[in-house]
Amino acid sequence: MASNIWTQLERPMRILAPMEDVTDTVFRRIIGSLAPPDLYFTEFLRADLFHPRFGARMQRRLEFTETERPIIAQIWGNNTADYVMAAARLEQLGYDGIDINMGCPAPKLVKKGCCAGLIRTPNKAAELYAAACEGAPSLPVSIKTRIGLDTPETEDWIGFLLELRPAALTVHGRTAAEMSDPPADWSQVRLAVELRDRISPATVMVGNGDIGSESELQAAAAASGVEGVMIGRGIFEDLLVFRRQGKPWVDQPREVVLDAYIRHIDLHRSYWQGERNFEVLKKFARAYLHGLPDFEPVYRAGMRYHDHDSLIAFLQHSKIPVDSR
Ligand SMILES: Cc1cc2nc3c(=O)[nH]c(=O)nc-3n(C[C@H](O)[C@H](O)[C@H](O)COP(=O)(O)O)c2cc1C
Repeated sequence: MASNIWTQLERPMRILAPMEDVTDTVFRRIIGSLAPPDLYFTEFLRADLFHPRFGARMQRRLEFTETERPIIAQIWGNNTADYVMAAARLEQLGYDGIDINMGCPAPKLVKKGCCAGLIRTPNKAAELYAAACEGAPSLPVSIKTRIGLDTPETEDWIGFLLELRPAALTVHGRTAAEMSDPPADWSQVRLAVELRDRISPATVMVGNGDIGSESELQAAAAASGVEGVMIGRGIFEDLLVFRRQGKPWVDQPREVVLDAYIRHIDLHRSYWQGERNFEVLKKFARAYLHGLPDFEPVYRAGMRYHDHDSLIAFLQHSKIPVDSR
């Protein structure tokens, strides 16, 4: 590996989690302008779609700007030839690293032996890891996973992955069966760090699950010993979660809040040009607007629009609160 981004960042690293339909280049650019993390991940990318016959379908998902660096591309699938091909392309595109998804619990994918389904087939997981390394020899290859499939099997599963000596390992402190329901178990993350110390001291450890503020991040890193903390849903509660100090998003002025959402919608329109559905933008409404004193009526009214122009016009109009009009 030519250079390893995982060893070059400040500790504890603050990492924006990969989230399908959320962390596209549009959201990454907005977060970069508000309060950038130390490291970005793409959404998970299907390795078989890197085949040239799918050309355009994957191309837009792969683009990123320099403001989104450093950036790791996450892939999923279970065919080694696809992994070699995908990794080679990601290396060529200038990504800073490649991550393999071994944690998504979606039953459809698990049944096919992908993502968290790989916990059942560790030898396959090892082959896929080797294939990614082969395809992108100059890049660090990391893995993101959970602590088990149905029950915690941290010693066996995390221990096995560490034998592969990945550049980094992200441990989400839940089993796949738990989906996102019970609180993440950071004692299992701590155990994973102890395994790392014994088995693969050079692997950088990242903990993930239920972190929503800088103080929680610091406490989790200190208690578990990880070098990095990954935040997923916490970004919806505070778009400024990666800022080390200052007021949270809910305390930002009305104009700042509405302008940020408008910028997101506008960039979504110009970047995706209809390739991605307008409706995905509504997932972000609560994240941007939940601190407004009149959040409920603004949110409900916003849901009635079905195109970029009319939603932007409505949000512009909403800069003046109803009671001051
Ligand atoms: C909408 C959504 C999409 C997600 N997509 C991905 C994904 O593409 N790849 C992945 O590894 N994890 C994905 N996850 C899981 C998150 O990366 C993270 O592991 C999980 O949300 C737990 O962290 P949190 O408690 O900070 O949210 C997704 C989670 C959410 C909520």
